[in-house]
Amino acid sequence: MDLQQAIAERRSVKKFKRDMHIDDKALYEAIEKAADAPNHGMREPWRLVHVSKDRLGDMSEDISKFAFPNELDKQQSHYDAVTKLGGMLLLIMKTDPRQKQNRENYFAFGAYAQNLMLLLYEAGIGTCWKSPMYIFDPKVRKVLGVKNDEILAGFLYLTDLEEEMPKAPRKNKNLITEY
Ligand SMILES: Cc1cc2nc3c(=O)[nH]c(=O)nc-3n(C[C@H](O)[C@H](O)[C@H](O)COP(=O)(O)O)c2cc1C
Repeated sequence: MDLQQAIAERRSVKKFKRDMHIDDKALYEAIEKAADAPNHGMREPWRLVHVSKDRLGDMSEDISKFAFPNELDKQQSHYDAVTKLGGMLLLIMKTDPRQKQNRENYFAFGAYAQNLMLLLYEAGIGTCWKSPMYIFDPKVRKVLGVKNDEILAGFLYLTDLEEEMPKAPRKNKNLITEY
């Protein structure tokens, strides 16, 4: 697939109403290839945890009791949505106590994530990066094994590409000004 085409046509897939399956081998290949992302100091500040399809229900139960305490309906709808996915990735970034290096890590992580989403799109795997408030919850972080010097950047939902993927229009106003 042409790079320009992948950039233009990749969309966040947000419908998880039907049971979806993905090719885990293609997923693992994309995870490795995406690591060609630029990262200053070659710190490679990314780490991924793969929640395979058969573990999605367990993972939902593990986090839901902290993410949605006493909200049984939300726990159930989270379970129903994520168990239909083809899998999920926990997106984890290594922080750095130095301000400059920490900022570089955030940028490098974004570059890695875009590489990954484009490569997965090329491989026929749809994605949506989810960053709900509970990614900051210490109990959610703990149950997911996120270390003290890491941030949980979100969840990458993995789906197939059969759903309609309407393009969210970009404003692209004042993108360029002359020096
Ligand atoms: C860092 C980041 C966090 C995001 N968090 C969410 C989220 O919590 N929920 C969601 O539905 N989409 C989330 N998205 C997806 C964006 O909303 C999506 O990219 C945007 O709607 C544009 O759509 P497109 O990816 O189809 O072009 C996130 C994207 C990024 C890059």
